[in-house]
Parts: sequence; C-alpha cells; structure tokens
Amino acid sequence: MVSINIYDKVTEIAKRRGFFWPSFEIYGGLSGFVTYGNLGTKLKRNIENAWREFFVRRQGFLELEAPIINASRVFEASGHLDHFKEHMVECTRCGRSFRADHLIEEKTGLENVEAMGGDAIRELLAEHEIRCPRCGGALKEPVMFLTMFQTTIGATGGEVGYARPEAAQGMFLNFRRGFQQAREKLPFALAQTGKVLRNEISPRRGMLRLREFTIMELELFFDPQEPSCPWFNEVSGEEVSLLTEEMEAEGEKTPLKVSLGEAVEAGHILTEWQAYFMGVSKRFISHLGVPPDRQRFRAHLPEERSHYSAQTYDHEVLLESWGWTEIAGHAYRTDYDLKAHQRGSGVDMTVLRPDGTRFIPHVVEPSFGLDRLLYVVLESSYQRRKKRDILALPRSLAPINVSVLPLVTKDGLSEKAAEVRELLLDAGLVVAYDESGSIGRRYARSDEVGTPLAVTIDYDTLENDTVTIRDRDSWSQVRQRIADLPGLLRRYLKGEIEFSELGSPV
Ligand code: GLY
Repeated sequence: MVSINIYDKVTEIAKRRGFFWPSFEIYGGLSGFVTYGNLGTKLKRNIENAWREFFVRRQGFLELEAPIINASRVFEASGHLDHFKEHMVECTRCGRSFRADHLIEEKTGLENVEAMGGDAIRELLAEHEIRCPRCGGALKEPVMFLTMFQTTIGATGGEVGYARPEAAQGMFLNFRRGFQQAREKLPFALAQTGKVLRNEISPRRGMLRLREFTIMELELFFDPQEPSCPWFNEVSGEEVSLLTEEMEAEGEKTPLKVSLGEAVEAGHILTEWQAYFMGVSKRFISHLGVPPDRQRFRAHLPEERSHYSAQTYDHEVLLESWGWTEIAGHAYRTDYDLKAHQRGSGVDMTVLRPDGTRFIPHVVEPSFGLDRLLYVVLESSYQRRKKRDILALPRSLAPINVSVLPLVTKDGLSEKAAEVRELLLDAGLVVAYDESGSIGRRYARSDEVGTPLAVTIDYDTLENDTVTIRDRDSWSQVRQRIADLPGLLRRYLKGEIEFSELGSPV
C-alpha cells in the first residue's frame, strides 16, 4: 500500500532541518530542481563516498571528470538526439504539457506504459478518453519531445550545445586516454560522478524525478571473447530477486529468487560483469539501510530499453511512499557507444588482441541517481519512537558524527564541553555543539538529524574527566574517559565496535 504520509514527513524534516528544499523558493519554486542545505550536502557526499568505496577504490578503477555541456556532435553520434525523447501531450485549452504514459498510468492503473510503445500509447489515450488533468481540456495528439537542454556555445551564431543527460558519454569520448592510463589492458573501468540535466516534461514526485541531478556512473570496458569477471566469485552466491524480461513480458509479478551465479548460468543475466555489479549494487544498497527483502532487479522490455542497451536491469527498492522505485540501472551497452563515436569522429576505438585481431570493447554500466538515493536513505531510516521523529541513519553516513552537550551552561560545564568539542574536531569528526534548551530537547534534535552519538558533559566530568555517551538507537548510555573518546568514536563510526564497547553502562 503506497502511503505518501511518510514522504511528506521526511521532506518536512528535510526542509526544516536543512537537508534539502525546493529551489527558487523565493520566486515561487520550479519543479524538478532541489537545493541542498548543510546536512543534505554532507549526507550526499557521504553516500557518494560509500559508492566510491563499493564500486571504485577496491577494484582500482579510474575516475574522470568531463564537461556537463557537450557539443551537439557528441549526441548526434551517440544517438541521444534521435532517441532521448518522451511521448508528450499538450492541452488544447490551457497549453500545459504532460507525459502521455504517466497520464495513462494515472487513469487506468496500468504499469510501465512507456514499455508498450507509441502505438499503444496513442490507442490508450483515445480508448480511455484521457483529458487534461489540470483543466479537463482536450489533449492534442502525442508528439516526441527531446528531453535534453539545448544551449548555444559562444556568442550569436555559436555552436549548438546540449547539457549531458548521462555522464557516460564522457567516458566513451575519453576511452582512448583511459585505455592508455590503464596500461592498454582490458578490463578496466572509468567512473564519474557529477551533474546531469534532463528536461522532464512535467516532473512530479519531488526528489524522485529532478531536472538537474547527480549521477554516479561507471563504464566497464571488456573483451567480449574474455567476458569473465575476476571478482565474480565474491558475489556469485548472493541471492537476488529477479524479474526477467520473459517474466515481465508475461506479466509475472513474483520475482525469481536465484543466486547471481545461477542467473548467469541460466542466461537471465547476459554477462558476468553485469551480474558482478548487480551483486555489489545489492550490498551497497543494503549498506545504505535498505533490507535485501525490499530490493529487486527488474528487466526492461525492449521498448523500454535505452537505444544503446542489449539488456537492462533496474535495481528497485520498495519505498513505503511510492512503492517499487528505480534507484540504479545496470545496462549491457555492448560496443554500441564506442562504435558510434568511432563513426562520428573517425577516431579508431579498436583494441588489439595478442593474436593480432582488432575489436571494439564491450561495456557494462551500473548507473545510480544520487539524489533519489539520498531520499531512499532518509525514508529507510525514518522512525517514530515515543512521539519523536528519528533518522536512524547508518552511522557511517550520518552528516554529523557526534553531538557535544553540556548538561547545563553554568559551573564551568560549557567550558569543559568546549574542550571536548575541540578534542573531537582535532580527531577529524564532524561535531555539533548544542547548549540551548533542556537536555531532553537537545537529544531529540540530535536524533532527528540522525546523529548516532551524543556526548554529555556533567558534574562528574569535572571530578574525573569522564563523559556519558548516548546511543541514538537504544537511548542507552555508557560512561567513558575523555582521553579515550577520539579513538573509540572513530572505531564505532567505522562499524568496528558496537555501542556497548564504548564504555561502562550508566
Ligand atoms: N547512463 C544511464 C542513463 O542514461 O540512464
């Protein structure tokens, strides 16, 4: 059962406490744009760093930062100018525009109408006599709308440019340099995070469909004659819930529970590399606080698949607010893009095999939308306990590591608390110092933004240089020497020790 109450609740906390809010508020807002405040900026960075840890650092993959604005030649060659389009309908009376598939879904309850294709969309609009949801006016015939932002580069008469709708093209354009830096060996990967823009026709669902958002994308280049992934054994036993293309075509709703090894064996996933990244993806999303039983991988039907993809699995999570929601796409892009840029630029994108044959590498791509993920993390961590709102964020993601709170502001407790704060800052922790209001209210404020620990300076501190440490999740407390806090807190935040190991029970 979809409930938007939790969405309203989470976005209300996000606005009030400074995670994020709609952009251009003072001018009445404009849907599809979001601004992050202090806590949101930090949380976003922590999620991005976790992604890097799961997908880039351990594997020794290479990173890249390419331009957001690209010359139109790039997207002519990549096929985006022809294909990056949605079915749009315009109201004859009020002139507003809508995505045709979304209007059909709202009216009929059908799912994934985009995958049915243009003819079906036209027929469904007519059959269900769908009219403008705003003013009830008649709708014009659907047309294809290019959802890329266009600009001009340079002064009048300059070159046409487009904002990138995915980071991937930066990796393909720079394949030759990446290959050189990878000492001309396959497989290797180029990874990039950064802003992308999509001119969504009528974005709704706030954080879930933005016009400007951050993507975390990786292109893995491999020889299709040597398709094995050296790390596949690390994830091959991992059980996943799959809705395969055949199951989707038959309308089957109950996913297949299968190990990734079996899924490759049975041909449900076309390459080991794609299966490897799906396994890492499941672990990454679990690390962000979404339990495995609220995750599944759903294959795209051919009509729904991007023009470059031979197989795509969306990684979906079950949200209380919006039901099953895509948070990543795992696409097998084959040699489509490198071939397209070889054709477009005339630059050779082939690689030499030891036997003297040449080929264009194949590509597997895991691609995450970071802003969506940030919302997922917040919703998954939201709890209501004893009439209080709590964000039980995974401790390694919490934007603030620890709150430092003097029990009262007199008798030298504030000064002592300031010393503790300095010590923790020197240890590299993100610290919030709070001395306003009752201690109960300050604990509540700390819990509401997901800070895992609160250190309280009380009268005993003045006697014996110990403090209490309070756990956000159990509300229990332990006592510890100030001098031992930096090391212990760092280990706790890394997940190396549990709360009970932070001190002696109070
Ligand atoms: N590169 C993934 C996407 O365009 O969604």
